[in-house]
Amino acid sequence: MTALEILLAVLVGLWVFVPALLPNPAAVIFGGGRPVDSGRTWKGKRILGDGKTWRGLFGGAFAGVAIGLMQIGIAYLAGSPDLWGFGPLWSAVGILFTLSFGAVLGDMGGSVIKRRMGKERGAEMPVLDQYDFLIGAFLLTALFYSDWIYSTYIEGWNILALIFLLLVTYILHRVVNIIGYKAGVKNEPW
Ligand code: CTP
Ligand code: MG
Repeated sequence: MTALEILLAVLVGLWVFVPALLPNPAAVIFGGGRPVDSGRTWKGKRILGDGKTWRGLFGGAFAGVAIGLMQIGIAYLAGSPDLWGFGPLWSAVGILFTLSFGAVLGDMGGSVIKRRMGKERGAEMPVLDQYDFLIGAFLLTALFYSDWIYSTYIEGWNILALIFLLLVTYILHRVVNIIGYKAGVKNEPW
């Protein structure tokens, strides 16, 4: 791979991950109402907590799918046969779903872990807060599209795309949450 091809792979790795990056901020906007665990507890502690709602789950996930469809549309109009990294159309749409739903499910998995550790809704948990959605998105996508994950983020120099994504995700998560907090839409700055 030439330096230019590596740079392109890193940018593509970020571009295709947008459907997983959007669901969490979208859940903050669309969220509220009935919690997914309906208030149920397990060994005296909430399973998920009031911060994980049905509206946040589907509002977030479908926001991710919607932005992904737009990205595919842009690539299609630009005449890109591989839809700019999402692969052929039949798998691209599936990848949007696994990235978006994987992100919200990963975020919910993070809340399960926080509740088991006795942390209340909204309590800070460094690393898990920033990466639970990313892990969920990667796991669910790898379950159905392991070849795509491998060629996009693992194979050869593409590992740099993964490293860059981890860095950008951390920074974006911090910055977006601080903005959301200052703007009054989010309860905590993390
Ligand atoms: N949200 C939601 N439904 C989801 C995810 C998020 O309604 N599935 C909304 C909630 O209003 C939540 C806010 O987005 O409070 C911020 O999300 P997050 O930081 O993930 O939740 P926390 O309230 O911090 O709860 P937890 O401690 O479980 O992470
Ligand atoms: Mg939180």
